[in-house]
Amino acid sequence: MTNNASTTTSSPLSAKIVEPTIFDLSSPGRTGVTMPASDVPETALPPKELLRSELPLPELAEVDVVRHYMHLSSFNYSVDSGFYPLGSCTMKLNATTEMIPVTWPEFGNLHPFAPLDQTEGYQELFRRLETWLNEITGFAATSFQPNAGSQGEYTGLLTIRAYQKARGQGHRDLCLIPASAHGTNPASAVMAGMDVIVVDTDEEGNIKVDDLRAKAEQYADRLAALMVTYPSTHGVFEAAIHDICEIIHARGGQVYMDGANMNAQVGLTSPAASPTASTRSA
Ligand SMILES: Cc1ncc(COP(=O)(O)O)c(C=O)c1O
Repeated sequence: MTNNASTTTSSPLSAKIVEPTIFDLSSPGRTGVTMPASDVPETALPPKELLRSELPLPELAEVDVVRHYMHLSSFNYSVDSGFYPLGSCTMKLNATTEMIPVTWPEFGNLHPFAPLDQTEGYQELFRRLETWLNEITGFAATSFQPNAGSQGEYTGLLTIRAYQKARGQGHRDLCLIPASAHGTNPASAVMAGMDVIVVDTDEEGNIKVDDLRAKAEQYADRLAALMVTYPSTHGVFEAAIHDICEIIHARGGQVYMDGANMNAQVGLTSPAASPTASTRSA
């Protein structure tokens, strides 16, 4: 926080806008409230020696504060104000009404370091949600961390790398990713220290199984994982998913399933229903 520095912010909705900082707007003696004269005896609390004499707070009228922050908030770019192709699927695909409970004080005001015996309701929610997700996916356990899909990808790939190392296959550092994959997939693989080889997709967006088999065979010694979005990026079930998993597992790789579209399969099938698939969901 510095005095006398103005902020230049580029808004996607308008041209470049210069917004002064709240300190630039400050004017000595200006105030947002006028307190009525006190009608109770004054008490020195806290003691004078504990009070800071220099506290350079900005001095503004209430309306100036409101306009300043409203103006800054108009720079936000969101799905409400325009199209964005990438970004959190969670925020993008959930209705606003579904986000309202996040603002309920019972959820939003819980202190992150609250003692465990004061968070039993919250823990109960986690336990129930885990039971449901285990049932939906067919897996034995579910982790709720991390929260974003891209971070989940990164975590999943690090887990696969650790698994490969633990079984003496730490040299496996190659990840196959279909051309149709979400942009975060190759980015996560590279961040996890893997080389990425792209697998072709046909004109309908499905993985070309022949190309997958050829590349899995060519890089069999280095194959660590395949990242596959299921249901696929174009929203349909990848019909060859069993063969796809089999091709990878037979060559020592793991299958990382990006479950961003998992809503589409709930009640129809579950990732663990495949005898060969290993997975997670975003
Ligand atoms: C298929 C797929 N994978 C990964 C992601 C990344 O998720 P997040 O934006 O939560 O990091 C998304 C979100 O748009 C997605 O649709």
